[in-house]
Amino acid sequence: MPKRDRWSSDDEDDRDDGGRARDSAPPDHSRRNDDDGQSSTECAASGSRDDAGLLPTPTIEMPITTTPAHPLRRMHNPLLDGCRSVYDSYERLSHLDEGTYGVVWKARDKATGEIVALKQIKFDVDPDMTKEGFPISALREIGILLSLRHECIVTVREMVVGDNPRDEVYMVMECMEMDLQAAMTTGGGGGGRGRTIVARGANTPFAQSEVKFMMHQILSALSHVHSRWFVHRDIKTSNILVHETGRIALCDFGLARKYEVPYRKMTQMVVTLWYRSPELLFGESRYGPEIDMWSVGCIFGELLIKDAIMKGTGELDQIQKIFHLLGTPTDDNWPEFASLPNAGMFKWRGRDGSELGRRFSVKSPSFTAAGGGGQSYLDGAGFDLLGKLLTLNPRDRISADDALCHKYFEEGVRMRVPDFFT
Ligand SMILES: Nc1ncnc2c1ncn2[C@@H]1O[C@H](COP(=O)(O)OP(=O)(O)OP(=O)(O)O)[C@@H](O)[C@H]1O
Ligand SMILES: [Mg+2]
Repeated sequence: MPKRDRWSSDDEDDRDDGGRARDSAPPDHSRRNDDDGQSSTECAASGSRDDAGLLPTPTIEMPITTTPAHPLRRMHNPLLDGCRSVYDSYERLSHLDEGTYGVVWKARDKATGEIVALKQIKFDVDPDMTKEGFPISALREIGILLSLRHECIVTVREMVVGDNPRDEVYMVMECMEMDLQAAMTTGGGGGGRGRTIVARGANTPFAQSEVKFMMHQILSALSHVHSRWFVHRDIKTSNILVHETGRIALCDFGLARKYEVPYRKMTQMVVTLWYRSPELLFGESRYGPEIDMWSVGCIFGELLIKDAIMKGTGELDQIQKIFHLLGTPTDDNWPEFASLPNAGMFKWRGRDGSELGRRFSVKSPSFTAAGGGGQSYLDGAGFDLLGKLLTLNPRDRISADDALCHKYFEEGVRMRVPDFFT
């Protein structure tokens, strides 16, 4: 839970966090007066000032300055001036969401009126800290996101700090409407969380053309990530954001890492269970982009049925669900399987063949209507790509670049920007 800050509020109106108890103080958008007229909240500043409770009642509606900066005035340079103050620069509008490592707010840039998302870094959840006391996962996320530029990856503008930069740091991002998981859920979004539009809902399946568009965007983002030698390690629908226009963007790079060839050892405790690849579940510690591609296969299936396709209750159950859907590994399809650290720990009844065809309905490309019962249809090429993503052996799993060149994106129905909202 984030520490008390001058933005925290007892007012629950703008929150929808499932009743999570929060430590909060009255909101305050007022700016501290600094004698020298400069922000005293630069990254280098240190002294702690917990004056949240002493501040006067805030004016909620701050005037928005829309006058453009004078061309001769020096732009803010974080290298010279440190990070800007969140209170100087942004007006908080509402609470958007909360993850394990951050609380996300919707805010307005006071200078330009632009709407942004601020991810407030939680300081007390990451056991790995720099010696200055900054969470390492947040530091990695910021560094990686600043080094990636792609229309399907969320854009980070800057870092800003609160009164005490040692425990109040925000990542300023472009503001998206909601995440893909919420967009697939009935009533996702809505008036709560400061949103004005409502997701189409779970019972209205996506058309083939819409699924194709989303898959192309996700794969384009991952192709960019992988080509820059990063592996995301937490691909899932709640880490894919949806824009009002239908554009989607990958976010949450807190678990992302650089990979090398040949693969070096990394922890196998990555990726949310339902999206975790079989090699990770069997203890593989030398891995690369293939683990992200498995997750994309899970998302492909999820887009078709608007529900996660393998909802394991634990690692063993997850393995069972994978083998039930795709068959068990054999010496032919996965010769290296037997040498995985946990391969000898479980006994499997051999199961040939895959259930994939029974689970996902295939129709000719000319068939455009969405399926009944909330399920989208897929053409033969789409089904082939699904199988190539959900391939047990990571060596045979399709890469993001090859998937983008797959005939699924050349043949059949044309891609169409999804209509996420009612
Ligand atoms: N730029 C954004 N615009 C709108 N909503 C966002 C934005 N960034 C994040 N969110 C929302 O906030 C949620 C949490 O953000 P994020 O996944 O970055 O946090 P986290 O703490 O690292 O999450 P996790 O629990 O997955 O580790 C997202 O699932 C999404 O719903
Ligand atoms: Mg997340």
